[in-house]
Amino acid sequence: MDSKKSSTNVIQIAKRIGEKNQMAAKENQHRTTSATRVIAITSGKGGVGKTNIVANLGYTLASQGKKVLILDADWGLGNLDVLLGLAPRYNLSHVIAGEKSIPDVIVNGPGDMKILPASSGIQELTSLTFEQKVRVLTQLDLLVDSVDILLIDTAAGISTNVMDFNVTAQEIMVVVSPEPTSLTDAYALMKVLSLKYAEKNCKLLVNQAADVQEALEIYRQLDTVVKKFLDISIEYIGCVLYDDKVPRGVRRQKIVTDLFPGCRASRCFSALAKRIASLPASKLPVGDSNFFWDHLHKNKLA
Ligand SMILES: Nc1ncnc2c1ncn2[C@@H]1O[C@H](COP(=O)(O)OP(=O)(O)OP(=O)(O)O)[C@@H](O)[C@H]1O
Ligand SMILES: [Mg+2]
Repeated sequence: MDSKKSSTNVIQIAKRIGEKNQMAAKENQHRTTSATRVIAITSGKGGVGKTNIVANLGYTLASQGKKVLILDADWGLGNLDVLLGLAPRYNLSHVIAGEKSIPDVIVNGPGDMKILPASSGIQELTSLTFEQKVRVLTQLDLLVDSVDILLIDTAAGISTNVMDFNVTAQEIMVVVSPEPTSLTDAYALMKVLSLKYAEKNCKLLVNQAADVQEALEIYRQLDTVVKKFLDISIEYIGCVLYDDKVPRGVRRQKIVTDLFPGCRASRCFSALAKRIASLPASKLPVGDSNFFWDHLHKNKLA
């Protein structure tokens, strides 16, 4: 695309955002609260269970009556759709390319939760141009107010793409497993969140714990070293116990809460969903329809 055309598009988008801002400001004069929660589920180490957690948590929250949207933000290796046995025709790569808009790409998942699928293995998606970011984030903004909870399934690690979504979300839920490498990688992630992005809080979820005591011990270990060296506080949000029904479900492309609602992992998801729903959002609730766009600017992500 030539640069003149590209800058014209950006100006048009910026103009539309300006109009949308004015409309939102007018609307907000009549609105006191908005309850949309935006939670990024992330980890230092890969394979700790983020995608399973997002899908099961989303399903459980939806079955408790919440309107849930899940954004697959693992733009290099996104596989949420595969986990859910979905075969979406379009995905975010079509939105980024300007061929589809986000509502065309969203599909229904189990339990009526909405899924915004990513594509797999398209390397270019991890390094969007400014114009592409504007296109995606402004369209996401239009969606945010229509749901109660937006869960973001990030890739593992500390890449810019992961951090963009983490710092954009109101709440960051770091997932660890009992493996020591998962803890050291979680520490590295928290260090970047704190030093580079000035994040002050994150939540910790321990997955695949043998029992609640092990999960609490992992939290204490991480909390001790984080308190000593970093200016970020960790809130323990709970645990999901190791359960072989999780991989059994994965092999059948069904989530465990759907397939085995009474098993021990599913009971953990129930408790977790209740806890999340009962907690106040750690940052201000979303309410001005410019959530992603504002964060893009505040955090100089553009
Ligand atoms: N509570 C659990 N008990 C047993 N196995 C689990 C549990 N949670 C996740 N797993 C298994 O861990 C594996 C990795 O899960 P998942 O794909 O959700 O991880 P991830 O963090 O999203 O990985 P990636 O970083 O590659 O995106 C899966 O095979 C899944 O079956
Ligand atoms: Mg994943």
